[in-house]
Amino acid sequence: MTQVKLPEWGKSKAQILKMMREFSGQDADWRGGKTWSLVYHANEETLELAKEAYLMFFSENGLNPMAFPSLKKFETEVIAMTAAMLGGPEAVGNMTTGGTESIMLAVKAARDWAREKKPGATAPEMILPLTAHPSFEKAGHYFGVKSVHIPVTPDFRADPQAARKALTNNTIMIAGSAVCYPYGVIDPIPELAALALENKLWFHTDACLGGFMLPFLKKLGRKIIPFDFSVPGVCSISADIHKYGYGPKGASTVTYRNSELRKRQFYVYADWPGGVYASPTMTGTRAGGALAASWAVLNFLGEDGYLKLADQAMNLTAKLIDGINAIPGLKVMGRPDMSVFAFSSDTLNMFELGELMEKKGWHLDRQQMPPALHLIVTPHHARMVEPFLSDLRSAAAELSKKGKSDASGMAAIYGMIGTIPDRKAAAQFVLAFLDDLFKVK
Ligand SMILES: Cc1ncc(COP(=O)(O)O)c(C=O)c1O
Repeated sequence: MTQVKLPEWGKSKAQILKMMREFSGQDADWRGGKTWSLVYHANEETLELAKEAYLMFFSENGLNPMAFPSLKKFETEVIAMTAAMLGGPEAVGNMTTGGTESIMLAVKAARDWAREKKPGATAPEMILPLTAHPSFEKAGHYFGVKSVHIPVTPDFRADPQAARKALTNNTIMIAGSAVCYPYGVIDPIPELAALALENKLWFHTDACLGGFMLPFLKKLGRKIIPFDFSVPGVCSISADIHKYGYGPKGASTVTYRNSELRKRQFYVYADWPGGVYASPTMTGTRAGGALAASWAVLNFLGEDGYLKLADQAMNLTAKLIDGINAIPGLKVMGRPDMSVFAFSSDTLNMFELGELMEKKGWHLDRQQMPPALHLIVTPHHARMVEPFLSDLRSAAAELSKKGKSDASGMAAIYGMIGTIPDRKAAAQFVLAFLDDLFKVK
């Protein structure tokens, strides 16, 4: 294994920046608009403002809001704006480092709430649609809450009947997505939350993806299944600023219907010689830059800006969906509620197609069960709709000429992982891969 040590003598700033620029040459080309995941870009002005605001508060630490009243102002105002947007002007919450942390905090709060309200639930369980984000699984793994999966109906939305059947004396929580990552559809939140309310359970809406899109789509006149605090029974909502909020990486929100529910999120240790330790979220030190840049972006874009961006993303999505459905052999899965969707095929090997597109410079996430390719559309993709469709058309034609053949390279690996019947073995395979990935080469 290659050994990398701290250099004996520091290098110059110019040298370091030059090296870093070179390294970035290997990265997914999101600036060129060829990346369909991981980066949410509105426009240059928004990005530049976010960077400037981030740098202005680069060193400040959000752990102690008393030391930095500016950060407290940013965080509480970002949460107030988010809560009002999500139909809960009275709701409270905190900023976190991302969707995963927001979801983990909500699961932890629900667990601790249930310990008081439902002491009979000695082995707590949460009911999750199959399409719920894996961060719920991670939360369950960390906090000892077992996930109980329910299937989705043919439109890829959670099945409320199945949720009812999955209830046990140990159920403490039900969750739904608005929208789910794999297919971009909103679960039937009103039915699921009503079931939670009827059974005195916590309900969480995961609006990490849709939180900063759906409220604007509704204002633009689109029919949106209610998902926010306007729905009785919704206790908490996660909504990410670093996705369609177009903020800096490391910025999400978790909001609760009231302070009584949020109380279980906080952590306080009063007996430490270092002082009384009070931490609102999972991390200790909190990057002031992320709080500041989020506040800056929300105020810069305003409702008007978000409405325009949401409209643009939806227009591009409609063109992409029509274009993909017109390619022989390809079909968009379900009817996406926003600018996130997957497409699949009955005849073509989707992983081979992903590889062919990769060779043409496009970065698309792969899905499994069934194999599919996934797109997250932002206004930044405007120039790329036609080039993308044209490359996809030729890649699909090339593949169908070749006929069904065994996949090779990465396509074979994706296919193999998706079809290993023993899912624990599949996870073991990926664990070994991760171990190798995070080594210096
Ligand atoms: C629906 C949904 N929930 C949660 C998450 C987790 O967010 P993060 O990657 O910011 O932790 C994602 C990420 O894509 C998501 O799409």
